[in-house]
Amino acid sequence: MADSKASLSIDGKVIAELPILSGTAGQDVIDIRTLGGAGYFTYDPGFLATASCESAITYIDGGNGVLQHRGYPIASLAKEADFLEVCYLLLNGNAPTKAEYDDFKSIITKHTMVHEKLAHFFQGFLPDAHPMAMLCGVVGALSSFYHSDLDIDKPDQRMRSAHRLIAKMPTIAAMAYKYSIGQPFVYPRNDLTYAENFLHMMFSVPAEEYNVSPVAARAMDRIFTLHADHEQNASTSTVRLAGSSGANPYACIAAGVASLWGPAHGGANEACLNMLEEIGDVSRVDEFVAKAKDKSDPFRLMGFGHRVYKNFDPRATVMRETCHEVLADLGVTDPLLDVAMALEKVALEDPYFIEKKLYPNVDFYSGIILKALGIPTSMFTVIFAMSRTVGWISHWDEMLSQPGQKIGRPRQLYTGEIDREFTPLKDR
Ligand code: SDX
Repeated sequence: MADSKASLSIDGKVIAELPILSGTAGQDVIDIRTLGGAGYFTYDPGFLATASCESAITYIDGGNGVLQHRGYPIASLAKEADFLEVCYLLLNGNAPTKAEYDDFKSIITKHTMVHEKLAHFFQGFLPDAHPMAMLCGVVGALSSFYHSDLDIDKPDQRMRSAHRLIAKMPTIAAMAYKYSIGQPFVYPRNDLTYAENFLHMMFSVPAEEYNVSPVAARAMDRIFTLHADHEQNASTSTVRLAGSSGANPYACIAAGVASLWGPAHGGANEACLNMLEEIGDVSRVDEFVAKAKDKSDPFRLMGFGHRVYKNFDPRATVMRETCHEVLADLGVTDPLLDVAMALEKVALEDPYFIEKKLYPNVDFYSGIILKALGIPTSMFTVIFAMSRTVGWISHWDEMLSQPGQKIGRPRQLYTGEIDREFTPLKDR
């Protein structure tokens, strides 16, 4: 794919001829793999200008608000596909035929139960443990139940791990919630859809029948789709780096859960709702916007800004529509939505936010929808992690299926002391 080259000169002397590689869309890349031999590393903290891999899963054009999974636009997927169809195409490359879909749905359905011993892991947590702490621990522990099926060099074993993780994340997530409120775990049901099953495991109790609201199930399914994958974000890069060492898929996904938890990343939906609750009323929006603009104040508007999207996050557009639909369908009027709409309006008109290209991201509206569905704030990032599991495991599988895959091992610009004389403690 090298059509042209970049010549790197230092003090007028060409030190490297670097191939320029082109993909099917997006920016070309300068292949710097030979640069080490010329005695230099590149320096890019936070990987602002670094392509870490070659991938065919998700394409983002941040300047034009484009997000496509396997070439399918996110708006089409969110409105015309269900989450399991999206899981299938992320894992396999194309939208499934009806037969493929039915087979995939049956496979996932039959993997939704967890080993009975897994339930005991929860007993070690304090009742007020954050559900993300439980998710980190329990997902990592899953590998202990499948040690005979973890050969990452075998595509069928990789795919079975992917199916198990996609199927079991909702069960484990709902168990974390039930444990936190002292209610019994609810087993999955094979007659329910993926989203219905999750809501049923979250909200049903043994004492009475529970009927899942079709509106809630549709909204939940769309939220799953909108969070499914997002190119080489922090948590996906974490999963890839962990996987490059040969770590088992459950350990890699647990690493992704841990990375997503941060408020700058997947933890933003929980932080955004907490912020809206702290603002409390439309009359205080200007006060918080001023705080966000104050360089001496570390406060940021959660749910705003994105490393890649510099005009709008296409997921936020769909999420905004869904937010209004769900609240109308459920007959919910939430003052926080009024605060969110006022905040969005002020921020989008404020020169600071326009200049810094800070727009609502995927996390801005999701929290309001989840709250309307009765999901507690502490579960928001858990739901993000559940959704993103298919993206994480698709990238993990893609990486391991690529020939010549090596362990990830970045270098550094060393700025510490060098060649110091060590004096033993007794003489210091
Ligand atoms: C997700 O990567 C992905 O794809 C992630 C994700 C996915 O699906 O995986 O899309 C999910 O993580 C969405 C982002 C959720 N995070 C938040 O909503 C938290 C609030 N947003 C920020 O923390 C921030 O916008 C980031 C982390 C999202 C992006 O930050 P960047 O691109 O690294 O930019 P930056 O931190 O260098 O900020 C640039 C400027 C700074 O001002 P200056 O130093 O240039 O004067 O913009 C300011 C920042 O202070 N700024 C904000 C702001 N975000 C950036 N100011 C106020 N409020 C904000 N939210």
